[in-house]
Formats: sequence, C-alpha cells, structure tokens
Amino acid sequence: MADYMIRDGVWKSLANFRLPESLGFGIVLAPVMYSATYSEGQWSQGELLPYGPIEILPGARALHFAEQVFEGMKAYRVGRPVANLFRARDNYARMRRSAERLAMHPVPEPLFFEAVNAVVGACTEIIPGKTGQSLYVRPFLIGTEPGYAVRASHSARFMVIANPSEIYATGPMKVLIEREQVRAAAGGVGTAKTGANYAASLLGSTRAVEHDYTVALWLDPTSRENIEELSGMNLFAVIGDELHTPVLNDSILPGVTRDSLIMLARAQGWTVIEKAMPVADLLRQISNGECSEVFACGTAAIVSPIGVIGDADGRRYQPNTIDGRARILREQLLAIQERRAPDPYGWTTEVVPLVKPRSQ
Ligand code: COI
Repeated sequence: MADYMIRDGVWKSLANFRLPESLGFGIVLAPVMYSATYSEGQWSQGELLPYGPIEILPGARALHFAEQVFEGMKAYRVGRPVANLFRARDNYARMRRSAERLAMHPVPEPLFFEAVNAVVGACTEIIPGKTGQSLYVRPFLIGTEPGYAVRASHSARFMVIANPSEIYATGPMKVLIEREQVRAAAGGVGTAKTGANYAASLLGSTRAVEHDYTVALWLDPTSRENIEELSGMNLFAVIGDELHTPVLNDSILPGVTRDSLIMLARAQGWTVIEKAMPVADLLRQISNGECSEVFACGTAAIVSPIGVIGDADGRRYQPNTIDGRARILREQLLAIQERRAPDPYGWTTEVVPLVKPRSQ
C-alpha cells in the first residue's frame, strides 16, 4: 500500500483553524479528513484533504441499507507536545468485527492506522489540552455501490474525521427506561458499531430527551427484563460492595471503556460481577439502598454518573451516591489516557505529529 497523498489546502486549513472557546462534544470539526476507496478488490491510495462535503451516488447501499460501520476513539494531548491514542488496536479490532458482521470488506489494519495517524498527526497542535478534553476521532466505512440487490457493496469508502471535544455529558445524567422498543435484536447487529443500532434507538432517545432525560436505557430484546446498555454507553451499578455490569451478549456493544474499567476495578481489589441485570432488581435495590450508585461509561462519555433513573410509569429512582466509585475510576482512567500516570497495560500509543514540509 502506497503512502497517502496530502491534498491542496490541507496546510492552509490547519493554519487558519482556531479552537473556539466552547467546544461541546462532536460539534467542532477538525479542518482535515482522510479518505480511501475500495473497488475491484483493491484499496486506493489514501488522501488527507481539507474537511468538506464528499460525493456519493444517490443509489449507494450506505444510504439505502445502512451499510456502514464506525468507531469512536480519542487522542489526548494534556501538557505534552505529542498526541497519544488510547487502546487504538481494540478499536481497530472492533471495527473489523463490525465490518465482518455486515459482510463489508474490512479496512486492512495498516490502512486504518495510516488514516488515524494522518488525521491525529495533522491535528496535533489543535488538540485541546485541558484534562477531559480530547480529539474525538471517528473512522467510518460506507458501502458505496449503488443497487437494490440486498447484498454487500463491492465498493466502499473509508474515512476518518475528528472533533476537538469536551467530555460528552456534563453533570449527572438522567436516564429513562425504554419499555416499548429495543435497540438491537437477538441475533441482529447489536454487537457491531453500526448506524443501524443508533437508528433503532432514535425514537426512544428523542422521546427521552423531550421528557428532559439525557438518554434512554435499553432492555434486552427477548424478555425485556434485563438491562442492556444506554445508547453509546455501557452501565455499571455499585451493589453492596460489588460493581455489577450486564454480561455481554449478542445485542450489547462490547465497550472498550467498559473493559478498561473492569480491569482497573479488579486491579484494586474490587469485585466485578458480569451477569444479566434485571431492571426490576436494580430499581428495588436503589429503593432499599442496596444499590448506592449507578454510572455509565463509553469513549465519549468516559465515566458519567447517573443521578436519576426514570420509568415509563413516571416513577423516578435516585441512587444515594453520585460520582463515588465513578469518580475514582474516571480519574484513574483519565490519568492513564492523558499519560499523567504510568500505563501498566500498554494502552496508550504516541502519534508522530505531521509537520508541513519547508518547501510548501
Ligand atoms: C462513542 O462513545 O464513541 C460513541 O460512539 C457514542 C456516541 C453516542 C457518541
């Protein structure tokens, strides 16, 4: 595979870019992006180009059959000249599994890292540097072959865009149990990071937001009794002295942050229980005080406390503790992610900054 091209306008876009005062999450766009295409069994040379619209045929399967997969990862640069990624190989492995689940041609690992490193390397100087801030990196793969035959595309486009960002949720979240709909079907694409799962969640999530909740809490598609996840986040609860989280199944997205928290918790001697979590049990345990704390985690969310769980019947459940163990885990995780603490697991990797050649 050849090295990527740097298109006209890249250096100018970077030089003209100013970080706004207020970043939010996923709102500010990095001024450059990476793109490579797949057709006739081959990947094209990749290119780094100014951020902007792309052309896609209106009949492309991505637009009709939701033939797309993506990842969410972060680059940090807190008090350091060089950016670093967190567990990037795990994001690659998940994107590969997601693509395979949708019968798409997976992006080869060297191409994935060429793209991510190109965007992060180019954006090094514009990564916000306060703790909790980062460059949110969004690799995605879309099926571009037009046609209504229900099969995977023979052509695809792989891109990486990025957003200088704050933490996703500010303050304790209010979550609403979704009793009618499900986010993912048994045997469906719930374990893949694909837009289809988010599409299935949009009505429930929109309703939750309209009722002044932050996000919907999804139950399993079969019994509708067990907690699965929040859209884009996994859930933990402190029950007695133990940390509980739903065991992974074929409709829960296996979060990289979820896995990291389990490792950090166990490393400090906490008991972590991964098993089916009936929502009725959790609500009872919150009411009788057995469950003291509930929190969510994800790449975007990091570790976010949950202050209220609302049910469809209008009842609200409030754990006694907000941000107790969650704060401990968030601080430990962020310290490793931001390279302020030793990284015993080898989770972080540096990205060489992309420097403008003198001749340009
Ligand atoms: C992520 O955490 O990376 C996600 O994709 C979640 C999304 C809701 C922003």
